[in-house]
Amino acid sequence: MTELNREFYNQVRQDHEELLEWLGRVHQALAQRSHSAPQLVDLLEGLGQHIERHFTDEESGGFFEQVVEQAPRFSEKADALRLEHQRLRTQMAELIAAARAGSASDAWWQQLNDTFHEFSRALMQHENRENELLQEAYGEDVGSKD
Ligand SMILES: [Fe+2]
Ligand SMILES: [Fe+2]
Repeated sequence: MTELNREFYNQVRQDHEELLEWLGRVHQALAQRSHSAPQLVDLLEGLGQHIERHFTDEESGGFFEQVVEQAPRFSEKADALRLEHQRLRTQMAELIAAARAGSASDAWWQQLNDTFHEFSRALMQHENRENELLQEAYGEDVGSKD
């Protein structure tokens, strides 16, 4: 594996771990109801910005192009993943809107908790598929390093 490829591979894994940490923070805040409503809105907006940066990075000359350059046979899979970003962006925006809309009632917490879990599951599936793609594209090079 070239040095550049290894750097890229590690960077993607690291970005995805950071994203998981973000999701963990929000899960915890929702489970413990440890934030005020405005604080929770702030947290969700922070997550939204983080996700937007991550998606934009992957789309603009990052992840997708490099994976397809390394392994052109995965171009369809990469396109499908790129498309999923739009659906996830919409879900994230809806989540923030729902958080902004309510007061911190039981129903509000419950609803946000349910909606976030659904979103988080979809996002993690997306990220896992990207990790698999990365592994398949670079796998022979990185071996059983994990
Ligand atoms: Fe992605
Ligand atoms: Fe990703």
